[in-house]
Amino acid sequence: MYPESMSNLIKIVEKTRKERIAQAMLPPLSIDEKKTLLSKFHPDYKIEKMRQLQVGPNKGDKTPHEIADIVEAYSLINPAKYKVGSPAYETDVLVIGAGGAGVAAALVASEAGAKVLLATKLRLGDANTAMAQGGIQAADRLEDSPVTHYLDVVGGGGFTNIPELVRALVMDGPSVIAWLEDLGMMFDKDAHGNMIEIHGGGTSIKRMHSARDYTGGEIMKTLRDEFLNRRIPYLEFSPAVELFTHKQRCTGALLYNLETSELIPVRAKCTILATGGSGRLHIQGFPTTNHYGATADGLVIAYRAGVPFLFMDTIQYHPTGAAFPEQILGQLVTEKVRGLGAHLVNVEGARFVRELETRDAVSAAIIRECEERKKGVTLPSGLSAVWLDSPVIDIIHGEGTVKKQLPAMWRQYIRFNIDMAKEPILTYPTQHYQNGGLKIDEFGRTPLKGLYAAGEVSGGIHGRNRLMGNSLLDILVFGRRAGRKAAEEAKTTDFGELTLTHITNYHKELRDAGIKPERFSPMILPDYRPEHLRHKTAPIIP
Ligand code: FUM
Repeated sequence: MYPESMSNLIKIVEKTRKERIAQAMLPPLSIDEKKTLLSKFHPDYKIEKMRQLQVGPNKGDKTPHEIADIVEAYSLINPAKYKVGSPAYETDVLVIGAGGAGVAAALVASEAGAKVLLATKLRLGDANTAMAQGGIQAADRLEDSPVTHYLDVVGGGGFTNIPELVRALVMDGPSVIAWLEDLGMMFDKDAHGNMIEIHGGGTSIKRMHSARDYTGGEIMKTLRDEFLNRRIPYLEFSPAVELFTHKQRCTGALLYNLETSELIPVRAKCTILATGGSGRLHIQGFPTTNHYGATADGLVIAYRAGVPFLFMDTIQYHPTGAAFPEQILGQLVTEKVRGLGAHLVNVEGARFVRELETRDAVSAAIIRECEERKKGVTLPSGLSAVWLDSPVIDIIHGEGTVKKQLPAMWRQYIRFNIDMAKEPILTYPTQHYQNGGLKIDEFGRTPLKGLYAAGEVSGGIHGRNRLMGNSLLDILVFGRRAGRKAAEEAKTTDFGELTLTHITNYHKELRDAGIKPERFSPMILPDYRPEHLRHKTAPIIP
């Protein structure tokens, strides 16, 4: 329930609603307007929030301090003290991570005849994929084409995307949707059985497929069922804490059992990193939409083994994170709410940006409205936010649309006695996605032989800004591609030795750069205790 103090502010939104609905769409931003908006208000442009890396393949490149802190850190394993014993497991393909990318990779690799082991930090399927709401893009209608999809992706990414990765993304899109349907996924369809597809920010045509507003949950459920049915072996609560390398090749990974504190060496002919992103680093202090496990572990261990980053100076802030009530601060308010027509409105009840501009621009516009123009709504917490006028949806599409199309959102708010079908909600940007990540080719291969990456841990597909619905697509396109290629590579590859020589070398680089052994990574799990009670991440083998 909104506090009494806000009821007058809500009346202002209600007063301008009819007129806003009658008005034409706001015009799109010109290229120059967008550039100015981003450079003045997008968090990526705050140079004081970044620093140049002092070590590793991206030495000299800038990245947010929070990423630099975990990259310019020592291993949890002292390679001089840890003697790698016999491997606990040997497998053709080791998949690390059990979100959409990891499970898709495991399914396809196993189908291609490889012996597969999947290891994950938390539970099977317990990852960002399951939290994704709005939808998955794919150009599968006659009036659409992968070419149009391609143009939208590169337009959204500021024309910086790696072309062959975008090509793979859009060309595989339709077959990924067909694959999901074959596996039993329930997409939203009309009375004739046609997919219902809507717009997302930056799309020139409607191609967002969804399962209401729990699309990722439905995808993950479908993949997990298939994975369990096929009896592929997996280890839960077992994050990878380092990769093994030998003769410029990845030869497996060192897992750490979170329950027993045992180290588990795994020897693999090929390893696929599908460890997700970095939302839980809370870059620049932003809250996040991300899963508890999103601590960039894969980035850290692959970087130490020599795999370069692409675009690690750009983070996606989702424009509409929940800003009120405080209990759900930063949680996702899906772009589908805007896709269905809800208006972004300032404290005066006026729209200030076209709601389906690309995310970087909408976020920057909200920050400008609150910080520079002082037209945000001041919340009881002292934070500032803007209204997302969700009741517009039922007015445009008919009563009951919010409850039918956005059931998870509606429930998220009604728990706090806010009926978003009737009352506007308050939103502000929240850390959502890591635009950049590990360098890969169109088969998910990193420059380190035997090591693949798929999903949010990889970079380049989306350039400097991802469009909605292209992440659920990306994880499946590149998960499947990596799984297939790794299975193929494993057929002609022998097992290698398990060494941590690259860690010894990396530690030397750190020491040479004057970085003391005070920070250790990967982080594995975030720590939300008050600062004075927080432990620094401590090494497992000091
Ligand atoms: O707004 C959303 O539903 C998020 C989707 C995405 O990041 O792809």
